[in-house]
Amino acid sequence: MYSRILSTGHFVPERILTNRDLEQMVNTSDEWIQSRTGIRERHIVSDGETNLDLCEQAARRALEAADLTPQDLDLILVATTTPNQVFPNMGVLLQERLGGHGYACFSLEAACAGFIYALSVANSMIQTRQIQRALVIGGETLSRITDYTDRSTCILFGDGAGAVILEGAEEAGILSVRIHADGMHKDLLYFPSGISQGFDRLRGKRDFIQMRGNEVFRVAVNTLCQIAQETLDAAGMSPDELSWLVPHQANLRIIEAIARKLALPMERVVLTIGEHGNTSTASIPMALDVAVRDGRIQRGQLLLFEAFGGGFTWGSALVRF
Ligand code: ACO
Repeated sequence: MYSRILSTGHFVPERILTNRDLEQMVNTSDEWIQSRTGIRERHIVSDGETNLDLCEQAARRALEAADLTPQDLDLILVATTTPNQVFPNMGVLLQERLGGHGYACFSLEAACAGFIYALSVANSMIQTRQIQRALVIGGETLSRITDYTDRSTCILFGDGAGAVILEGAEEAGILSVRIHADGMHKDLLYFPSGISQGFDRLRGKRDFIQMRGNEVFRVAVNTLCQIAQETLDAAGMSPDELSWLVPHQANLRIIEAIARKLALPMERVVLTIGEHGNTSTASIPMALDVAVRDGRIQRGQLLLFEAFGGGFTWGSALVRF
């Protein structure tokens, strides 16, 4: 038994924050941001809009594309670092929004690699015949944990959600998926607050994403090149067989370095970083849906996903679409 991607969907909030807007907020420039990151603008939620709202719309689009109802699912798995609340988990909240009942729902936190982790878990559950069909989502509202007075981070992040429906199939589908983590880098990229450390730690102040960007950049490039090769090797494939690289959209220069290493021309890389910024775990399923809906990605093509995030966590999946 294998799993395959039956359909995709994504959703971004209406509000757009451009580089020009950021020029009014911090000491930066459109030229600096574009040349260092590839980002022109990003979508961010408005007051009262939440991650669950984004996940709901992405899920509805994926269900509609597969002509399924919420009750046709056996699992909802949401990867996120910005859940609406601690519990019920995001999967349960989403099931209730969609009108589903009874089947398993949970959320998973693995920073920017969360979608690959979620894909790995759902794929295993399908392969072992625990479930037949899963809605797998990456959804984030990073704007809620971004410091808009810190120019080194606020230029990067955006909000959005992406969804795929995975289904059991006789033929793969997901050919190989690899996930890793190493906590020795925990201080390079993190969000400091948490429930168990006590609510009084911050004495009424808000916490924000902390990142040593330069060091993250270096480890990310090396690690992602290795994981891409490891995932291809596991399926006995080579980079020249790839139709598309669908990378985590963290920084255009990181993506270019990986494409170079794989000897893949940039024409075969799906890029949404210019319009979406870095949406953490939402970025791969959002980019996938964009390229599926605009007709670039076709059935039967070979796709490579790769992601890297706080922890560090990282992972990659090779998929026959
Ligand atoms: N505008 C103008 N200047 C800036 C800005 C800004 N927004 N931000 C930093 N600078 C300045 C710095 O102060 C520094 O100035 P100095 O030389 O006078 O001290 C100079 O620009 C260079 O700073 P660096 O941090 O070395 O810039 P770098 O080229 O590394 O780019 C960036 C910074 C874009 C954050 C990059 O390091 C990066 O993308 N890192 C990886 C981020 C990432 O991929 N995270 C992994 C995933 S994380 C996740 O997805 C949640």
